[in-house]
Amino acid sequence: MQLRDFDSDSFLRDHWQKAPALIRNPWAAWENPLAPEELAGLACEEEIESRLVVQTNGGWAVEHSPLPETRFEALGENPWTLLVQAVDHHMPAVAALIEPFRFVPNWRIDDVMVSYASDGGGVGPHFDQYDVFLVQGLGKRRWRIGQRCDETTALRPHDELRLLADFEATDEWVLEPGDILYVPPGIAHDGVAVGDDCMTYSVGFRAPSRSELIAHWVDHRLTDLSDDDRYADPDLTAPDNPGEISTAAIDRLHAMVTETLADRDDFARWFGEYSSAPKYPEIDWRPEEPINAEIVHARIGEGVPLRRNPASRFSFIRQNADTLLLFVDGECFTCSGQIIEFAARICANETMALENEVGLSNDFIALIVDLVNSGSVAFGDE
Ligand code: SIN
Ligand code: CO
Repeated sequence: MQLRDFDSDSFLRDHWQKAPALIRNPWAAWENPLAPEELAGLACEEEIESRLVVQTNGGWAVEHSPLPETRFEALGENPWTLLVQAVDHHMPAVAALIEPFRFVPNWRIDDVMVSYASDGGGVGPHFDQYDVFLVQGLGKRRWRIGQRCDETTALRPHDELRLLADFEATDEWVLEPGDILYVPPGIAHDGVAVGDDCMTYSVGFRAPSRSELIAHWVDHRLTDLSDDDRYADPDLTAPDNPGEISTAAIDRLHAMVTETLADRDDFARWFGEYSSAPKYPEIDWRPEEPINAEIVHARIGEGVPLRRNPASRFSFIRQNADTLLLFVDGECFTCSGQIIEFAARICANETMALENEVGLSNDFIALIVDLVNSGSVAFGDE
């Protein structure tokens, strides 16, 4: 899917992380990529995260996945909306909606959530911690945006949807198929379906909180630390006051912590692994029949392209002129020589032809075998 009338540079400069943007149908030819029935089918699957939100008198009732198939027949007159997480992982046509937004690095992308609502349906006024492009797929939705919110903003009591106690609308628009509303983190918003058959695709991003980052980085460093690595003071001299924790002791203790956490190379490698870890690690994407080097040679010879699993996360870090670290689904592959170019290309392209790949070193083939057998890539046209 291509965007026709959209300038990513000016968007990044004027809107990204700063201000909402209404982008009226910028697609070369908008086509709703998923039928409502397909979405309902996904919501009934065991391993897919979904919610059904039904509006009751002045409130919202939430049901969680897996939803029984019969649930959709039993929906009454009250407005309702179904929200399904990470639809891009299962539906390549939905994953294609991310492509126009690749001006944001892979590691910042979370997933595409898809919602379907009956007339008047919505999840109520709220704010999210993350940037989102709300792409109207089918039908119409009235979006209102409002005030900037943060941790201190008052929410309605006992409410798992985290609805705002007060919503002060500053703008409103009715979005039609193909229209996009960008909402930066922390901006209040409320979308209500206008008529039935309203489908919205939320291309959602993520950004680690400082506390999450520190907690996980510390956890990682802890695995290498020994119980014998301990404060020591063989140079101790008697203090004037035994109650004082000396400046020298604090300096030494503080250094024990900061030196351990300051290792930038280890941090880079760890962050690549951490940020590329799968969103749903319990889903097994491995092929039924594992592949081997011979089959890889044959597929490449036949000109069969390699495709990334849309549920897989790909990133890389250039370590130095000769080494690139490729991160795929939480694994790190140290690449050198001809593999560097391949690794960079697979991170940038959802599908790639290998027919002209020269050399085919054993390391190169071994990497492809690994990636195929872990389910992160597959040979195939579809
Ligand atoms: C929706 O699609 O109804 C909700 C999306 C959002 O507000 O984040
Ligand atoms: Co939202």
